[in-house]
Amino acid sequence: MTDHRLLSLQAELPGLRLLTDAADREHYGRDWTRRWTPAPLAIALPGSVDEVQAIVRWANAAGVAVVPSGGRTGLSGGAVAAHGELVVSTARMNRVLDFDPIDRCLTVQAGVPLQRVHEAAQQHGLQYPVDFAARGSCSIGGNIATNAGGIRVLRYGNTRQWIAGLKLVTGSGALLDLGRGLVKDSSGYDLRHLAIASEGTLGIIVEASLWLTEPPPPTKVMLLALPSFEALMQVFAVFQARLALQAFEFFTEVALKHVLAHGAQVPFAQQHPFYVVTEFASDPASEAAALAAFEQCLSDGLASDGVLSASDAQAAQLWRLREGITESLAKYLPYKNDISVRLSAMPAFLAETQALLGHEYPQFEVVWFGHIGDGNLHINILKPDALALEAFVADCERVTRLLADSLQRHGGSISAEHGIGLVKKPYLWCTRSAVEIAAMRGIKAAFDPNGIMNPGKVFDAA
Ligand code: FAD
Ligand code: MLT
Ligand code: ZN
Repeated sequence: MTDHRLLSLQAELPGLRLLTDAADREHYGRDWTRRWTPAPLAIALPGSVDEVQAIVRWANAAGVAVVPSGGRTGLSGGAVAAHGELVVSTARMNRVLDFDPIDRCLTVQAGVPLQRVHEAAQQHGLQYPVDFAARGSCSIGGNIATNAGGIRVLRYGNTRQWIAGLKLVTGSGALLDLGRGLVKDSSGYDLRHLAIASEGTLGIIVEASLWLTEPPPPTKVMLLALPSFEALMQVFAVFQARLALQAFEFFTEVALKHVLAHGAQVPFAQQHPFYVVTEFASDPASEAAALAAFEQCLSDGLASDGVLSASDAQAAQLWRLREGITESLAKYLPYKNDISVRLSAMPAFLAETQALLGHEYPQFEVVWFGHIGDGNLHINILKPDALALEAFVADCERVTRLLADSLQRHGGSISAEHGIGLVKKPYLWCTRSAVEIAAMRGIKAAFDPNGIMNPGKVFDAA
């Protein structure tokens, strides 16, 4: 290690784990986007809150930008370090700290993977209900920093709803203890909620207290085959009117083709253009209601086939068809849209978007899936092997600009759950007004006066 800045950091914090090897810099400098070339200065792996504070104070003095890093499963480039930043990874801050049965609150360090949170909640006979396919690798700190959603938002809401408190080391190195598990607190601005979805631009989340809830009921999963896009929201309405749903997800036959090629299996003999995976409690009343909803959809021509899970193993198999899509597409370096509109706006927005993308992307494979019951669509454009990444991204950005216009007209969001990061930064205007963006800049300046926290993410410096 010869860089004078790193020598000064090491002199200040002799016990700090610092990585500078090319392989480590590459590994920690990117997330799942793989669009930018990683080029961090180094990776710091603090083991305590004191070390995080000392690193941030040093970074201010040395004028080095800091990129907070969790599991780097992010899909928006938020954890990318491509300009000589210091990556501060929470990987070593991975302990479950406390559980309070009266508050039903689990306190963990920020680097704890989501799956460990699930397991810890289960050990106390409760559940932490935010869940999605990256559960084994993503960190709770990253989930909070992106306000992650997932497959059960329809029933339980997204990460924001479950954060009882968090500790944040701000961009100036101060430690804030926010929320503190209080169910009721009207004492002014709730700074905890500013940290949620801040994508590392305000500071580093070092600890979180999570509300837990009753364990989930035993569930059944139903896979439905649909004849048309138009049927999608109608099927959702039929099911929602009859029973309480835990999840309502959709994907297209193109998405199915990719998961099947990745080893999944589908229970239908025939192909269908659209599919829905829905989950509900496995009590007799819910099952009867789900079967009645399915019959109604069949007779109204809204569904063409369906299967109800007969065991937990089959339920997992059906979920794999939906949850395996991201991994099956990763090798195509997909350009990802993660957009949302209100459910009431969805039918018109779907029709318009289908027409727009059909017209603008005749040359690319377009894969639709998502949390349709939450109004959240994932539209992935796959890069053809022969096309250079820059040319591919440029074309996708041209079309995303048109999509952003449409989102603005329909009152939607350019990022439903993955965050803005670098990928959606050019389109923030379609969801947030100029006044809102100016207010966000002012908030950043209050938390991070020298602008060292994840600069260039979400918005450019003023
Ligand atoms: P990272 O990728 O490391 O970082 C994400 C952002 O948070 C960056 O801006 C980073 O700087 C910041 N950050 C990380 N840790 C901290 C911290 N301690 N303090 C402050 N800032 C921090 N997302 C969903 O919402 N729903 C899904 O259904 C979903 N499914 C996925 C499936 C797969 C297979 C994959 C690969 C990803 C999926 N994601 C999903 C995206 C991703 O897993 C989430 O965005 C997740 O919350 C990121 O967590 P992470 O620890 O990997 O964060
Ligand atoms: C999903 O819902 O599968 C995730 O958000 C990941 C993705 O969009 O690829
Ligand atoms: Zn998703």
